[in-house]
Amino acid sequence: MWNFNSPKISYGRDSLEVLENFSEKKALIITDEALSSLKYDELVSKIFEKSETILVKPKEPSKEEAVELSEKIREKEPEILVALGGGSVIDLVKAARILSEVDIEPEEITPFTNLEELGFKGRSYFVAIPTTSGTGSEVTWAIVLRDEREKRKIIMANEKAIPDLAVVDPIFVEKLPRKLVVSTGFDALSHAIEAFLSTFSNPFSDALSVKAIEIILKNFEKSYEGNLEAREKMHISATIAGLAFSNSQVGLVHALSHAFGATFDISHGESVAAFLHPVLEFYKKKGVGRLDELSKYVGVDILKEVGRLSERFGVKKIFEFDFEGKINEIVKKAMEDSCIVTAPLIPEEEDLKNLLEEIACMREKS
Ligand SMILES: [Fe+2]
Repeated sequence: MWNFNSPKISYGRDSLEVLENFSEKKALIITDEALSSLKYDELVSKIFEKSETILVKPKEPSKEEAVELSEKIREKEPEILVALGGGSVIDLVKAARILSEVDIEPEEITPFTNLEELGFKGRSYFVAIPTTSGTGSEVTWAIVLRDEREKRKIIMANEKAIPDLAVVDPIFVEKLPRKLVVSTGFDALSHAIEAFLSTFSNPFSDALSVKAIEIILKNFEKSYEGNLEAREKMHISATIAGLAFSNSQVGLVHALSHAFGATFDISHGESVAAFLHPVLEFYKKKGVGRLDELSKYVGVDILKEVGRLSERFGVKKIFEFDFEGKINEIVKKAMEDSCIVTAPLIPEEEDLKNLLEEIACMREKS
């Protein structure tokens, strides 16, 4: 038996107004300092009669930060818990909300952990409002935290991490810096492509993947140029891609990006953007058949189109430093990453070493 999981989703212009249904509830809003300086938290807090805001650091969260935030949630006992931010803020709140109710280590939040048996009741209604168009975290069961000591990312997932309501309002991405339009756009594109290629893909996730890719390919460059209609479409497509991969999983692009990003402190979107094309080329060489099937559904050669966008936005620039000394470490971390399990083929360690060496060679030639 398989299940399709999704929160309730309010989307489009003025969808933030859906929160007026909860205006009498005691709200706790979690956002980051950068978004607060744009006064985004005020757009949300003014809806509620009683609300409090906690500001967190604008970077990928650590497990220690999740534990610290869980204590504040427990103390404040909100009726509505609002995560307002990119994937980092939403992931942090997902983890902290569970840890505020259940006495376990963050690593114990797995797809197989029965949180209800451990006492999880979902005491607060959980609302996620994305302010980037990429991670899809507002609809997924996945959580990524940093393990500072081990210099690796901890990938967690559980059905109880899925928000109750996702509010996908384009007002929050109108001022998104171009650099983030690129990195988060590639993240969304890779979610849709990897979900389609995943060994857990299914008719529901396939339909969502194809639609998300179609919207992204039509709107990515226009959104980069600042076209607000295209930004709105990119915002919705990121959520569609999130639903696709949350119900299918990702693969090697994400495994390598997690490993590379943890080793060199590079953002998730930037490392995903850089690895998407090389990994798809690797799949093509190895004869992954669903890549051609995807091109047929979308109506363009996916590999060529991703290659063109990679060139257009210069996303492989993050490889322009000497990382050869760390190749073995990156390969080891990627092989241990849970995302590799659903890749359309499980590579040998040697395959990944060759792939990283080829990337390093291309840098020297360019
Ligand atoms: Fe991602």
